Amino acid sequence: MRPNRFALRRSAAAVTAVALAAVLGAAAPAVHAAGTAPSAAAAAAAPDIPVANVKAHLTQLQSIATANGGNRGHGRPGYKASVDYVKAKLDAAGYTTTLQQFTASGAVGYNLIADWPGGDPDQVLMAGAHLDSVSSGAGINDNGSGSAAVLETALAVSRAQYQPDKHLRFAWWGAEELGLIGSRHYVNNLPTTERSRLSGYLNFDMIGSPNAGYFVYDDDPVIEKTFKDYFAGLSVPTEIETEGDGRSDHAPFKNVGVPVGGLFTGAGYTKSAAQAQKWGGTAGQAFDRCYHSSCDTTSNINDTALDRNSDAAAHAIWTLSADAGEPPTDGDVFTNTADVAIPDAGAAVTSPIAVTGRTGNAPSALRVGVDIKHTWRGDLVVDLVAPDGSAYRLKNSSSGDSADNVITTYTVNASGEAANGTWRLRVQDVARQDTGYVDSWKLTF
Ligand code: TRP
Ligand code: ZN
Ligand code: CA
Repeated sequence: MRPNRFALRRSAAAVTAVALAAVLGAAAPAVHAAGTAPSAAAAAAAPDIPVANVKAHLTQLQSIATANGGNRGHGRPGYKASVDYVKAKLDAAGYTTTLQQFTASGAVGYNLIADWPGGDPDQVLMAGAHLDSVSSGAGINDNGSGSAAVLETALAVSRAQYQPDKHLRFAWWGAEELGLIGSRHYVNNLPTTERSRLSGYLNFDMIGSPNAGYFVYDDDPVIEKTFKDYFAGLSVPTEIETEGDGRSDHAPFKNVGVPVGGLFTGAGYTKSAAQAQKWGGTAGQAFDRCYHSSCDTTSNINDTALDRNSDAAAHAIWTLSADAGEPPTDGDVFTNTADVAIPDAGAAVTSPIAVTGRTGNAPSALRVGVDIKHTWRGDLVVDLVAPDGSAYRLKNSSSGDSADNVITTYTVNASGEAANGTWRLRVQDVARQDTGYVDSWKLTF
C-alpha cells in the first residue's frame, strides 16, 4: 500500500458520487460451454463404502511406513511408496492417472491426479486428500484416513461404472504438512480455463479421529448442505469446522474462487462435555491425541467415524456430480472470458453473457462466478444485471479492503428473472489509483 492512498481517496469521492452511464463491455461473444445431454433424472444413490476396504488401505499405508523408517513424509521413500500403492489401484480400475512432480524444501514431491473418463469436461467435480504424513509417524488418521476414503470412493465409482453428468477427478496431494505445497502447486499450474471448469473441490483431511467429532466445512452452501443432509439422515449431529479454516488443501482452491467443502473429525482441539454428550467419546481430551505424533498408527482410528465419513464422501461425490434438481438443463454454464478493462475511478463497465436455449426463469440459486483482477478490490462495486435491466448487488465498495482481486462465486436468487437473454456483469471502480480488469465470469444455471 502506498502511503498517500487515503488522501487521494478523499478527492475521488466527489467524482464518483456522480452517477455515470454504463459503458458496454467488450463485444466478444459469450461462450456457452457445450455440455453433455442435459439430464432431468435424479442422481443415482451412492453405494455404501465398505469400511473394511478403507481399513485395508490403512493397513497397507501402515506397512509402507513401517518398511520405510516409520513415516510417509514428503521427500521420504514412504511417500513415494504410498503414491505407487494408490496409483496402482486406480490404474487397475480404469482411471487415467497423472503424477505431477514438484520440488519443496529441496526434495521432490508428487501429486497424484486420477480422472474418471467421461462426463461434461466443462463441469469438473474434484475430491482430494493429502497423502503425505509428518516425519514423526505413519500418519494413519492424518491423513491415511482421507486418502483411503477418497481411494475407496474412486474404486466404488469404477465398480458401479458410474457415469455422472460431470467429470470426476480425484487427487492425492503431496507436502501438505509443509504448508499445502502440493495442492497450491496444482492450482497455480492449472490454466485459467481449466480452473473455470471446476464446479467444486471436496477435501478430506483427518476423518477417523479416535475421539471423533463430526465437523463440516462452512464454505460453499450447496456442498455444505449435501454433507449435512447425509449426517442428518443418520441422525448424527454435525458442527461447523472451526479448528483452523484454511489449514488444508481446500484453501488454494477457495482462494481462486472454486466452491469448496469437506469433512473433519478433529485434531488437537479438546472435546467439550456437550460434544461428548452428543457424539460419545471422552470430554476434556483431544479429538486426536496422536495428532502429528508417532502414535498416529492403525490403532489411532475410530472405525465408526471412518465409516460414516467415507459414506458421506461417496454420497457427496455422487450427488454433486449429477445434474439434478431443476430440469431440464440444470448445471448449464455460460462463460465470457473476454477481458474488460475497468477505468480507474471511472464509469461502470459491463461484460455480457447471452443465455439461450433455456426455458422459464433463472434458478433461485443462480451461481455467478467472478474473476476480477484488481490491485485494491475495495474500490469495486459489482452488480449482476438481468436481461430486463434489474440489478443484483454482488459487492459494495469498502475503502479499507486493500486485498487484491475479486475471485469468488456469488449465489443470487434470480427466480424472478427470465433465464434467456443477455445478462451483464457490471463493475465500477469508485476510487482513484488502483486499477484492474474483468478477467472472466460465468453463470451456472
Ligand atoms: N493437516 C491439518 C493441519 O495440520 C489438520 C487440520 C487442522 C485440519 N485443522 C483442520 C484439516 C481443519 C481440515 C480442517 O493443519
Ligand atoms: Zn492433515
Ligand atoms: Ca481505483
